[in-house]
Amino acid sequence: MSKRIPVIAGNWKMYKSVAETAEFFEKFRPLVGEATHCEIVIAPPFPALAAAVEAARGSRIRVGAQNLHWEKEGAFTGEVSGPMLAAAGCTHVIIGHSERRQYFGETDQTVNRRIGAALEAGLAPIVCVGERLEEREGGRTEAVLIQQFDGGLGGLTPEQFSAILVAYEPVWAIGTGRTATPEIAAEAHRLIRDCAARRFGATAAENLRILYGGSVKPDNIRGLMARPEIDGALVGGASLDPRSMASIVHF
Ligand code: 13P
Repeated sequence: MSKRIPVIAGNWKMYKSVAETAEFFEKFRPLVGEATHCEIVIAPPFPALAAAVEAARGSRIRVGAQNLHWEKEGAFTGEVSGPMLAAAGCTHVIIGHSERRQYFGETDQTVNRRIGAALEAGLAPIVCVGERLEEREGGRTEAVLIQQFDGGLGGLTPEQFSAILVAYEPVWAIGTGRTATPEIAAEAHRLIRDCAARRFGATAAENLRILYGGSVKPDNIRGLMARPEIDGALVGGASLDPRSMASIVHF
């Protein structure tokens, strides 16, 4: 069995100014200095990326963006490209978050294009999938995850796929305080890994890191990480506080 290195990633969403970012890193860095058992990624809003990269320099903390456009440059007011993010020092980018799907018209097709652009720029995409409450209650979780996986990731080459991280984020668990139980999350992760095996083969699936996201907190991270199917977490609210994020890192 392959040894997948865990990833603990913080998605700050639309929180924190440049000054607040610097303040976070000042407190967070010493708290995770000894943590070598996992990869750590922090994804601030665009204006704070440079400050985060600067503050993380010389540490093991990596910086990610929360979105990117699929073109390298052009007349796309308000958008940011992969090469720009890479040049700014980002190593990761979150793609297809449910908030982008819900509020900004993100589809599996646009997710697919963004993934291609991220890979071309040398960024590791953290691709989000997850069912909404009514889909889970209607027994459609599996169908939704398969559709999002195939639609977003289906066309990749095996080599491209090896650079991908997937985040399973059930929409009903995001910002609600209602975490999926480790069993529910593990079941979804198995399903996603099965999709990967069908498309890209057993070894690629075995190497894929699947993070769980949705109300991850210091007091539930251990139960989640105890499941062999769960390779890390994409943390929203609890990643904003340096102490709580550090305690999640030390799961
Ligand atoms: P919360 O941890 O605030 O539920 O957010 C999860 C999330 O959306 C991370 O991308």
